[in-house]
Amino acid sequence: LQLHGALSRVEGFGIISHRGAAALAPENTLAAMRLAFDQGVDFVEADLHLTADGVPVLMHDPTLDRTTTGSGAVAAHTLAQLEGLDAGSWFDGAYLGERVPTLEAFLDELAPTNSRALIELKGVWSDEQVASAVAMLGDRYLVDRVAFESFEVENLERLAVLAPEYARVMLTREWNRPTLELAAALKVSAIGARNEVFERDFALIDEARVLGIGTMVYTLNTPKQWAKAREHGIDLVITDDPVSLDEWRQSS
Ligand code: G3P
Ligand code: CA
Repeated sequence: LQLHGALSRVEGFGIISHRGAAALAPENTLAAMRLAFDQGVDFVEADLHLTADGVPVLMHDPTLDRTTTGSGAVAAHTLAQLEGLDAGSWFDGAYLGERVPTLEAFLDELAPTNSRALIELKGVWSDEQVASAVAMLGDRYLVDRVAFESFEVENLERLAVLAPEYARVMLTREWNRPTLELAAALKVSAIGARNEVFERDFALIDEARVLGIGTMVYTLNTPKQWAKAREHGIDLVITDDPVSLDEWRQSS
């Protein structure tokens, strides 16, 4: 199996903390990321959307409504507008004052730690937008500590050209031989999907492995699910409970 770049440093069954320590703090905020860094799991996952003025910010949903005091599309707001929003109080009043972080602010928090990050590009990014984000990583010497994931084939292609040194994970809702062929053509390190997707045909996991492509499943939170994933040869697991998964991994 050829998990390149940052992913090659995962040994065995890799653990990825979903949206930061999202069970303990408001997802995709710096508070959630700091907690996840302290948990010491293999990777911290972050989602990125672009603002109206093209700035990458940590946000899962395409809209502001669920996790901030704003409303409407992230892409319809400038960074200056997002800076006035609260992104913590929806989760718990103790997090009042958390902001929507920029990618740059997240990377400034990540750089001095020992943690690694899996960064999802949501939506289709231009060459310039991909190049700008990659430059932020390069400025902080993060090439061995960051991998990218995306559902968008265009993003994966742009990353392959503009930042071939970074590991990439192809997210998919399809799971069949053409999926494997696409992943092989894109030269990604791994394919990522919901558990229900892999369940359609577990045998394809071994076929992917033969092609040198790993598999990443989301989002598994129970020992029963973790055991099944390991049994079927999944390489990477995104979880809301990385500490329990780490204990389980060490004891089983
Ligand atoms: O996106 C794939 C994986 O990162 C988990 O899904 O919906 O939390 O972004 P989601
Ligand atoms: Ca994600």
